[in-house]
Amino acid sequence: MSGSNLLFKVSPGGHLKGEIRVAGDKSISHRSIMLGSLANGVTEISGFLEGDDSLATLNAFRAMGVKIEGPTDGHVIVHGVGLHGLRAPQGVLDLGNSGTSMRLLSGLLSGQAFDVAMSGDDSLNSRPMTRISVPLGTMGAVVEGSDAGTPPLKVKGGQPLKGIHYKMPMASAQVKSSLLLAGLYAEGETCVIEPAPTRDHTERMLQGFGYEVRVDGRTACLSGGGELQATRIDVPADISSAAFFMVGAVIAPDSDVTLLHVGINPTRIGVVNILRQMGGDIELQNERVVGGEPVADIRVRSSQLRGIQIPEEQVPLAIDEFPALFVAAACAEGQTVLSGAEELRVKETDRIEVMADGLKALGVDVSPTADGMVINGGEIGGGCVDSGGDHRIAMSFAMAAMRATGEVKIADCANVNTSFPGFVALARGAGLQITSENGE
Ligand code: S3P
Repeated sequence: MSGSNLLFKVSPGGHLKGEIRVAGDKSISHRSIMLGSLANGVTEISGFLEGDDSLATLNAFRAMGVKIEGPTDGHVIVHGVGLHGLRAPQGVLDLGNSGTSMRLLSGLLSGQAFDVAMSGDDSLNSRPMTRISVPLGTMGAVVEGSDAGTPPLKVKGGQPLKGIHYKMPMASAQVKSSLLLAGLYAEGETCVIEPAPTRDHTERMLQGFGYEVRVDGRTACLSGGGELQATRIDVPADISSAAFFMVGAVIAPDSDVTLLHVGINPTRIGVVNILRQMGGDIELQNERVVGGEPVADIRVRSSQLRGIQIPEEQVPLAIDEFPALFVAAACAEGQTVLSGAEELRVKETDRIEVMADGLKALGVDVSPTADGMVINGGEIGGGCVDSGGDHRIAMSFAMAAMRATGEVKIADCANVNTSFPGFVALARGAGLQITSENGE
């Protein structure tokens, strides 16, 4: 996990070729463990992401008495205990780097009979939690953090919950999901209204477990008191992990890759929309629906990109892909402008600042703004960048090296394992000249 000095070294040049299956979807993997644990019966999961983040969720449910077999090659068997079958864990739940674990669990644990304490690494312990503790409090839950509203969190058990109708101030799937999971335990109806569409995996998966969720435009509602029935889940490859290869392939001359079995849920497809608008050659093939989620193979070829003003409605649909998209913008002809993306400042790092610093270190002309970035495309130089322990920033700069004029060294890369174990080997197999080592 973070704190280690894993260093990536990437030689300039090269291109990406071949058929690649990237790691399983992180968001769907988290939810498969959560809902599988709360269901009646045995849930079988394939394609599960064996990354530190989703394993943190898995270990949390084991600590609460759920028998979970695996993961073995992405295969997990969860012996559900029903909505009221969890037991108090011994000690604090350590959720590492995973914001999704902490925020979704806060809602789910608000409905239990026992108290739970949760903590994480330095990054997670500095992320804002009042966005969930305040609305959960309105439902009757007691979720307490530091005076600054950050973890460690204590969730008090035995609180009767009441459904609420909540208009979210920011577009956040984690907040929406946290409230819907608390709503399973609440009296009456819980409705969450979002300012813009965000990933809807929780709503889809609840329905897959036989729980009624009523979705009408930007409002999702459910009523407490139902039950979840175990099911099978096939986790598609993560479009957020595929995004690094999409950007790598469009920016590196002579590239032609096909990313297999990737989730293309319309609430996650912003990276494809934005790259296409920049001139990226991206083809969706074999579109199909697997277990309630749309999936496709995505063929990406080298393209001459041009700078654009990124449409604000695409921002929540590409929220995790901006580190990679900034690299694409640095390789485009002309200026790219992002605005309306202040949420990037409260991710695993402040992704506006850390990406701007890294791009500047490589000689790219960028100006961070309060809610985005202005990037003037041009030459990328070699040099050293610091990922700040942010998995997505590390992988984005690794791809940038293909267009750099010299070697790119990236510091603090161990957290790539939170979302994409095996990234280095997969990327090397596809043509990226990358090595990793324990640096000083
Ligand atoms: C996630 C929601 C997003 C995203 C995160 C995963 C989820 O966070 O950035 O990586 O699985 O619900 P926000 O809800 O904070 O936008």
